[in-house]
Amino acid sequence: MFALIPSYTIASILETARIEEVVGEFVSLKRRGSNLIGLCPFHQEKTPSFSVSPARGIFKCFGCGKGGDSARFIMDHEHVSYPEALRYLARKYQIEVEEAQPSPEEMAALNERERMFNLNTFAQQYFTHSLFETNEGRAIGLSYFKERDFREAIIKKFQLGYSPDHRDAFTSHARKNGYTNELLLKTGLSVGQEERLFDRFQGRVIFPIHNLTGKIIGFGGRILGSDKTKAKYLNSPESEVYNKSHSLYGIYFAKNAIIKNDNCLLVEGYTDVISMHQAGIEHVVASSGTSLTTEQIKLIRRYTNNITILYDGDKAGINASLRGTDMILEEGMNVRVLLFPDGDDPDSFVKKNRSSDVEAFIQNNAKDFISFKTALLLEESAHDPIKKAGLIKEIVHTISLIPEPIYRSVYVKECGRMLEVEEQTLMNELNKLLRQKFKGRTTTADSEPQQAEISLSQSDVAQVVETSPGFYQEREIVKILLQYGSKEISHQVTDEQGFPAVYTETVASFILDDLVHDNLWFEFPPHKVIQEHFAEAAKEAVVPSEKYFINHPNPVISSLAIDLLTSPYELHNWESRSIFVKTELDVLRQSITGSVFRYKDLIIEARIQAISEKMKQSTEYEEQMGLMVQKKKLDELRRQINSQLGIIITK
Ligand code: CTP
Ligand code: MN
Repeated sequence: MFALIPSYTIASILETARIEEVVGEFVSLKRRGSNLIGLCPFHQEKTPSFSVSPARGIFKCFGCGKGGDSARFIMDHEHVSYPEALRYLARKYQIEVEEAQPSPEEMAALNERERMFNLNTFAQQYFTHSLFETNEGRAIGLSYFKERDFREAIIKKFQLGYSPDHRDAFTSHARKNGYTNELLLKTGLSVGQEERLFDRFQGRVIFPIHNLTGKIIGFGGRILGSDKTKAKYLNSPESEVYNKSHSLYGIYFAKNAIIKNDNCLLVEGYTDVISMHQAGIEHVVASSGTSLTTEQIKLIRRYTNNITILYDGDKAGINASLRGTDMILEEGMNVRVLLFPDGDDPDSFVKKNRSSDVEAFIQNNAKDFISFKTALLLEESAHDPIKKAGLIKEIVHTISLIPEPIYRSVYVKECGRMLEVEEQTLMNELNKLLRQKFKGRTTTADSEPQQAEISLSQSDVAQVVETSPGFYQEREIVKILLQYGSKEISHQVTDEQGFPAVYTETVASFILDDLVHDNLWFEFPPHKVIQEHFAEAAKEAVVPSEKYFINHPNPVISSLAIDLLTSPYELHNWESRSIFVKTELDVLRQSITGSVFRYKDLIIEARIQAISEKMKQSTEYEEQMGLMVQKKKLDELRRQINSQLGIIITK
């Protein structure tokens, strides 16, 4: 498990693996041009946006954004580590992996973990046995659960138990069965000094905590009475097998339901998870005991992009929700929030209501983060303009955490509408925050290759704006490249046999093919740098990420990228006569074509003007004729473009 795979073996595994075969084992794929497409296994969808490129050896989902090579696919799909994914591929392609021997320490650590899992399972069986098979357990533990309306099936499913009310009942039982003091202390099942160990969970009901694969990593023990001097819950300490900030209570039982619902409900406690399950709502986990961490959010992201926070409506719950919301958005996920009224938590709410009503209640009352924050803060800031300004800043700050520019602009719109503020005002505020945020990063991000060797100052910028006729057209195209470059658009074409076919490509390759074909390069240097980088990447059939530009070592490029990425791109339907605009992508395609045409039109116009100048100055008949022919060709090209654009040329 800890052995190392030599790098030459890794290379040969990755070279041998055929992405279409690796993915094909899990996803039914159909050929589409040079690619294969299918339904994405990482998110729920009805029409395929998951594409596999055998030529590039990669997969990419244009719906949820997941993508990568064969190893990445196995890691994400099978939830395994990189070395495990490599081993999987090696087995598939019968490549021998001679692994380096683990060191003695690694061996010892490995055995230790296994022994700890082993002891935890042993303990769980003991606690379950005490609960169901002993008089004390039945009288105290089981009747407690029954009082809380936990039915036997759910108790068994979650492997709940009872730890007898004796100082060392479990500890001595475990020792009799050969478990060492050291291991008992390491797992935290026992406490005390080496020679005098006691049970940590004495006289408590037990909630085992499972990892993703169902192994028990720790326990929570709840007190039965209401002794205020004792902690309501005791939990296992952190250990080699239990990392609290990386674990979520209930994830093992919830993962399939999370995928199916494409949503994860996040609650606070053990009993919330269990009661919801009992009510048939299974896509639920708790961050029990710790406040929500980024690692926990990433764990959820393996299964869905959507989280609904269900917390108590008290002060603590509200604060935890606000914090959670920001963290979830920062991970690029969607979040909704529902605070329960009147001191209810999900557990008590489920008990008072029918389960179908609970689901409807969550559906109808979970608010998106803007509504949630607005409603919350508006209460405090009503009729107070200064407080309202603070609220707006607060919400814009949250929006600035969202990594995807398109989502940011959607939320800016929504926020503007709800708070009755000009969208542009919000945009300015947002850009300010983003620039501050990215400033720190630009200096450290020199890991990407191909730095452009240009240096520009603001005065250069001003100058070029004046001298370059296509400046705004160039800018529009760059903006489309940055915002939509990796989106796919399809064209209706006719294949060699004359049958209608659909051809799909990325927006970036659609634009670049066109420009590079006509050998058109942007004049304004920062635009040109971006265009060249897209063109370079296109040779490798990839689309550069927005991060590359945001973190660009040249501040002119990075702040241009930030500006363009954060100001909304209005899709204009330039072809006003077309009544058959079907989808947003159709509009996008038309918009792009329009922008490219407008750009070309300007270039051609400039060339025509240059030719006209030359003609005026020329005295040679031959030369004049040559220029005339050139001009005629360009005029014709312009006419074609403009007829497509629906513009009537009067000249
Ligand atoms: N918790 C803890 N230690 C405590 C109190 C709480 O670890 N002393 C954790 C537990 O994981 C608990 C969660 O925080 O499940 C939420 O706490 P709370 O709402 O107080 O408990 P409930 O789960 O609602 O438990 P019960 O319904 O049994 O009161
Ligand atoms: Mn409770």
